[in-house]
Amino acid sequence: MEGLIGLMNRIQRACTSLGDHGGGGDLPTLWESLPTIAVVGGQSSGKSSVLESIVGTDFLPRGSGIVTRRPLVLQLHQTENGSQEYAEFLHMPKTRFSDFALVRQEIADETDRLTGKTKQISPVPIHLSIYSPKVVNLTLIDLPGLTKVAVEGQPESIVQDIENMVRSYVDKPNCIILAISPANQDIATSDAIKLAKEVDPTGERTFGVLTKLDLMDKGTNALDVLEGRAYRLQIPWVGIVNRSQADINRKVDMISAREKEKEYFESSPDYAHLASRMGSEYLAKLLSQHLESVIKARIPSITAVINKTIDELESELDTIGRAVAADPGAQLYTILDLCRAFDRVFKEHLDGGRSGGDK
Ligand code: GDP
Ligand code: NA
Ligand code: MG
Repeated sequence: MEGLIGLMNRIQRACTSLGDHGGGGDLPTLWESLPTIAVVGGQSSGKSSVLESIVGTDFLPRGSGIVTRRPLVLQLHQTENGSQEYAEFLHMPKTRFSDFALVRQEIADETDRLTGKTKQISPVPIHLSIYSPKVVNLTLIDLPGLTKVAVEGQPESIVQDIENMVRSYVDKPNCIILAISPANQDIATSDAIKLAKEVDPTGERTFGVLTKLDLMDKGTNALDVLEGRAYRLQIPWVGIVNRSQADINRKVDMISAREKEKEYFESSPDYAHLASRMGSEYLAKLLSQHLESVIKARIPSITAVINKTIDELESELDTIGRAVAADPGAQLYTILDLCRAFDRVFKEHLDGGRSGGDK
């Protein structure tokens, strides 16, 4: 199955380098047929923290207010044990980053390149791949936080602009919604749940994530939410304890943060009975498994799109002239090759693993 997610990641990158990120372009139907996971929530609800916990590495710009101002398409690639961890941006294909502080800086710089040093937003995504033995194969999209008011330097329209941008991702039936809500706020006022409720009323593609459990008032707990009574979802809620701002300032690393989180759930009188399905590590595994099963279920419809794309690309290449090694042609060849590879892998899976499977 890991072969499938890997191939899907490569097709998504190839589409983006052709200028297709789902909002038009050459191959919108192909992009739109691929499942993705979008992280949605109010500002400071803990979106970046949850993403970093899933990846297991600090690499995202953070701070109070609106930090994420362009979508960040984050592709995680699991590599062999013991191999060196590194990151690569689609807009800098020849540079391998092994210092994640520089990754954080480049996300900020690349954001500014399009939006200026203002608090404006842009729907054009930044593509980042992380290769690491610590990650599971996943594609995640970090989005600007939903907000209720514009701050100084922002146009009034920003509230609606952000909502529209987030909506353009979560509207798609193949988008898995990672809906982040902080436990120290009333779930009825959660921006994430409000939007998820609208676009996914049956809750079949929404993962409810409850952060900041450690910040709840003494004597209260979040069992109503975590046990599905406050807002019911098909997939049970996952509670999370991320690093606090004080932890971040003290440079508490991810490994000790995860250990602390585990300990928090196991030793909690309220949550110990749920401990095996709480926390960032569990969430990462759950998402990866879910993505695999979604891809499996969608194989027939994705295959149809892929075959249509192969036909279209072949006729486009005929027009351009197959001998031309110029860039656009070469990129089309890449996608064509990927589509063919995808088609082959799908056929093997449809075979029901008769050939022994590729797992
Ligand atoms: P974002 O704006 O949604 O991306 O939120 P961030 O991940 O940047 O988090 C905002 C602030 O809340 C940061 O100072 C985090 O350290 C803090 N924070 C996030 N999650 C938790 C949590 O579970 N517990 C505690 N104590 N602080 C958290
Ligand atoms: Na923030
Ligand atoms: Mg953020």
